[in-house]
Amino acid sequence: MTAVAPRVLRTAYQESIATYWNNERDPVNLRLGEVDGLYHHHYGLGEYDKSVLDGPEERIIAELHRLETAQADVLLDHLGPVGPEDRLLDGGSGRGGTSIMATKRFGCRMDGVSISEKQVEFANDQAARWGVADRVRFHFRNMLDTGFETGAFRGVWTNETTMYVDLFELFAEFSRLLAHGGRYVCITGCYNDVTGGRSKAVSQIDERYTCSVHPRSEYFKAMQANGLVPINVIDLTPDTIPYWELREQSSVATGVEKSFLTAYREGSFHYLLIAADRV
Ligand SMILES: C[S@@+](CC[C@H](N)C(=O)[O-])C[C@H]1O[C@@H](n2cnc3c(N)ncnc32)[C@H](O)[C@@H]1O
Repeated sequence: MTAVAPRVLRTAYQESIATYWNNERDPVNLRLGEVDGLYHHHYGLGEYDKSVLDGPEERIIAELHRLETAQADVLLDHLGPVGPEDRLLDGGSGRGGTSIMATKRFGCRMDGVSISEKQVEFANDQAARWGVADRVRFHFRNMLDTGFETGAFRGVWTNETTMYVDLFELFAEFSRLLAHGGRYVCITGCYNDVTGGRSKAVSQIDERYTCSVHPRSEYFKAMQANGLVPINVIDLTPDTIPYWELREQSSVATGVEKSFLTAYREGSFHYLLIAADRV
């Protein structure tokens, strides 16, 4: 009997997310990616060079891109030691930027999964362009049910993708995929349990991306329930605010900048990195 592969898009909600990313052509992602061929769909970290505001627009684009690449480097820094024999998984891999950086840095094998077929095709083309297609493979798969072998991965990360899924379901799958002692790294926006409930600015972010930002507490409950023990928790909020201030002044601003800046400044939302070990 032939096994039937599980459907990648299992709900109407997942179909709507896939359609969003299949049709997404925001200059803030494409023009920045064209700077050096690393395409990111996440935000940036670090101070920006104020002098870019006096120069041609290209300087602002290049600076925003530099901050987004710096963010991916911070994520990779928290994976612990990774060697060429190791295998990593990028859950919700977008156009592939972080995965390509990981292979170039560690020489490891990489798999990326996304529910957008267009992104998967794009990311595989990029891997070929970077000459790393023998080590990086992007798949049209659901990160909640990847179909990869149990215990096959030394590391797994999600870079701004967890707000689309149930965390208990997601971490159950990651826990299954990670080898004992393997590392999970997550960078995400989450709302603040202390200020209570979802602020107006956080609701605007949800609305803009058709996502559902989780409270901070939910990450730790879902990790604990799935054998993932945090080793590092870093509040990246102060380091991401300059990126949003620069982006707000750029020609590639999308209108969501005000909601992020309000949410961060009022303390109703955090930009968090969590690194956890599989026990
Ligand atoms: C904001 S983008 C982040 C992309 C990438 N991590 C990056 O940093 O450039 C969100 C990504 O999550 C993916 N995604 C959302 N739900 C998913 C799911 N259930 N399984 C796999 N990918 C998913 C989308 O297709 C998209 O690639």
